[in-house]
Amino acid sequence: MKTAKEEINTTKLPAHVAIIMDGNGRWAKLQGAARVFGHQSGVKSVKETVEAAAELGIKYLTLYAFSTENWNRPGEEVSALMELLVKAIHDETPTLNKNNIRLLAIGALESLPQKCIIQLQKAVQETSKNTGLTLVLALSYSAKWEITEAVKKIASEVQKGSLLPEEITESFFSKQLTTKDIPDPELMIRTSGEHRISNFLLWQLAYAEFYFTDTLWPDFRKEHFYQAIVNYQSRERRFGKTGEQIKNTK
Ligand code: FPP
Repeated sequence: MKTAKEEINTTKLPAHVAIIMDGNGRWAKLQGAARVFGHQSGVKSVKETVEAAAELGIKYLTLYAFSTENWNRPGEEVSALMELLVKAIHDETPTLNKNNIRLLAIGALESLPQKCIIQLQKAVQETSKNTGLTLVLALSYSAKWEITEAVKKIASEVQKGSLLPEEITESFFSKQLTTKDIPDPELMIRTSGEHRISNFLLWQLAYAEFYFTDTLWPDFRKEHFYQAIVNYQSRERRFGKTGEQIKNTK
């Protein structure tokens, strides 16, 4: 029997995969441990997923690491998550370079702790020349925030007279978002059995395929990632057209 990895058609990979990493808290609870232990264990899943995506030749991987709403969690958990991020970024930058992976971050980055901003800037700069996988961390990110910011920017240009309303096309709007240089995700994975989009890339996911798995994030391994890709490849993507139209253009 073929493994999920062997079943993958490497000529038909999604260029961009986005993931909502969910279930760290519940995973920890099942172990009788504190929520933070779930986040710590989730770092291993991040490493496995990044490695799997890079090995397959996927061009963009976006991970929802901290949402705008996550600021409302207990202060202790927020601090632990920030510490974990700083440590993971610090420890993994050499590995990113070794594997030709470029790091980017999207979100209201200025609201992150100073230490985190500095570590991020350093890693982004040190990996900026890499040409393999681009790993995008969504931090202090929410899609409604992003869209609101874009609208504010556009409104102010119109007010100044430097932009005409008729110049605001879909492609112009896309270029005002934090993902302006990144293709839209074709596949969005959410772990832990939750079937929500949770304010993640609302504009960019317009045509994405969604894949939900009951696996809790700390249990997520390469094999689970491969299964998601195989499942994605079994679907017919129609972009509003009929199945017949799609067959005829193949
Ligand atoms: C959701 O689980 C997970 C998060 C809010 C944080 C994700 C962070 C990591 C995996 C750690 C570090 C990340 C990087 C990129 C190095 P949850 O706490 O909402 O779980 P629950 O729904 O079971 O409570």
